[in-house]
Amino acid sequence: MEHGYELLKACTNFFADFIIFSLLALYLCRLHLSPYRFKKDPVVKKSLKVFVKTYGCQMNERDSEMILSQLQCTGYELTDNEKIADVVILNTCSVREQAEIKALGKSGYLARKKRTNPNFKIGIVGCMAENLGEKLFKLNGAIDFVVGPKRLHELANVIEGNGPNLCIGDPEVRCPTHGFGRKLGKNQCSAFLSIMQGCNMRCSYCIVPKTRGIEQYRPMQDIVEEAKFLAENGIREITLLGQIVNNYGGRLMPMVDGKTPFVQLLEHLNALPWIERIRYMSPHPKNFSDDLILAHKNLPKLCPSVHLPIQSGSDRILAAMKRPYTREKILEIVEKLRSAVPDVGISTDIIVGYPGETEEDFEETVSLFDAVKFNMAFIFKYSPRAGTKSADLIDNVGDGEKERRNQILLQRVQETSSYYHRKFLGKTVEVLIEGHAKRGEDTMFGWTSNHCKVLVKASENNIGRIVPIRIDGFATTILSGTLVDSY
Ligand code: 5AD
Ligand code: SF4
Repeated sequence: MEHGYELLKACTNFFADFIIFSLLALYLCRLHLSPYRFKKDPVVKKSLKVFVKTYGCQMNERDSEMILSQLQCTGYELTDNEKIADVVILNTCSVREQAEIKALGKSGYLARKKRTNPNFKIGIVGCMAENLGEKLFKLNGAIDFVVGPKRLHELANVIEGNGPNLCIGDPEVRCPTHGFGRKLGKNQCSAFLSIMQGCNMRCSYCIVPKTRGIEQYRPMQDIVEEAKFLAENGIREITLLGQIVNNYGGRLMPMVDGKTPFVQLLEHLNALPWIERIRYMSPHPKNFSDDLILAHKNLPKLCPSVHLPIQSGSDRILAAMKRPYTREKILEIVEKLRSAVPDVGISTDIIVGYPGETEEDFEETVSLFDAVKFNMAFIFKYSPRAGTKSADLIDNVGDGEKERRNQILLQRVQETSSYYHRKFLGKTVEVLIEGHAKRGEDTMFGWTSNHCKVLVKASENNIGRIVPIRIDGFATTILSGTLVDSY
């Protein structure tokens, strides 16, 4: 009997240990395996406060989110007040010289803080870090560390001094696009979701392939998992990011039922509950295939809004830029899109004053503008970037002439944008309310699915909701309206 009791006790202990061990193992596995394992705020271990300032594109904004999340997880305190920060990280852009000058100027201004706070650190990360590398230490001796976009996952170590203070070039493991978990803002309802990194094109003017390297695609399942995580945490709108987002999968992922990997991904995301809107940027005209146009027609969550960078309306300049399409192709895409999705909002990027751009070339761009009627355009004056093919050409269109061309296109786009916005007067549109507008506590801002910004007087409860708004006012780039009925 006593023996039986001993046996029972041993068995009970064994099972209790087994259960505790299994639970512990499961917990550790979850900690280790989940890509979002840092979603809970960690205990603050370090006394340093970090501030990150972001320049440039949406990719950089997403990278900055990853940086903040990584540093918080390694015990740094984050601050959105630059004045009280002990570490200021400038996440920089190199696309135009002006962007680099601005960030360098800022680093010079920050250097003065070292006099009063000897522990103060300045870091340059992102594209300018990759582009200028070691030169940055010479340009500003107060810079403490320089980390390129492919090595941002090494940042916490670098700040701590556990490694070189210059981290550029290709690492063995490239910084993962999903980063180190996500820290979503209070009431955040829209989020960027990076699906790939790098670019395999070699547009003659562009520094990005040098700074961000060749294309790398995230597995489709990982992207879908991250979208599910975002949806479960209040996100209603996702914007897929990639340098050429519609080249997702490249030749490495197969076509299925005649659909490109990018469209397959859109279909998976469209099926997710809670996600109500899907956007993407930026696509390349070269990859703007018919299945994507059809997806705009068939996938209800895919927003009727496309940012399609065309760069020029002159076939001669497009060829010189090594952009493999013609103005005819642009007109064809626009026509197909508009017949598939009436009211689709189309915006673009243009470079004026590319080397050798004649008045006739520029007129071609103006006439393409007139034909397409973009509802928004970002116009850039050509800026030679060392290390790109066009940097060897003579930058022969003077600053004055670049400015003149810039103004002409700006004027055109203001007209077409007003025309586009005016069409909404008196109509009721669905708006995802994102937050407080700058102009007052009781005014909220949000976006229509075709990417028009709308101001409305409404309560905070509407943030994160798609609400009907009757449009009763418009300006060049903005609409205003009144909440309809019960809202
Ligand atoms: N000069 C001017 N604009 C440029 N862009 C890219 N490189 C340059 C350059 N060297 C513009 C392109 C691109 C946008 C992000 O920046 O229009 O689409
Ligand atoms: Fe630069 Fe051209 Fe790649 Fe766009 S497609 S990132 S412009 S090289």
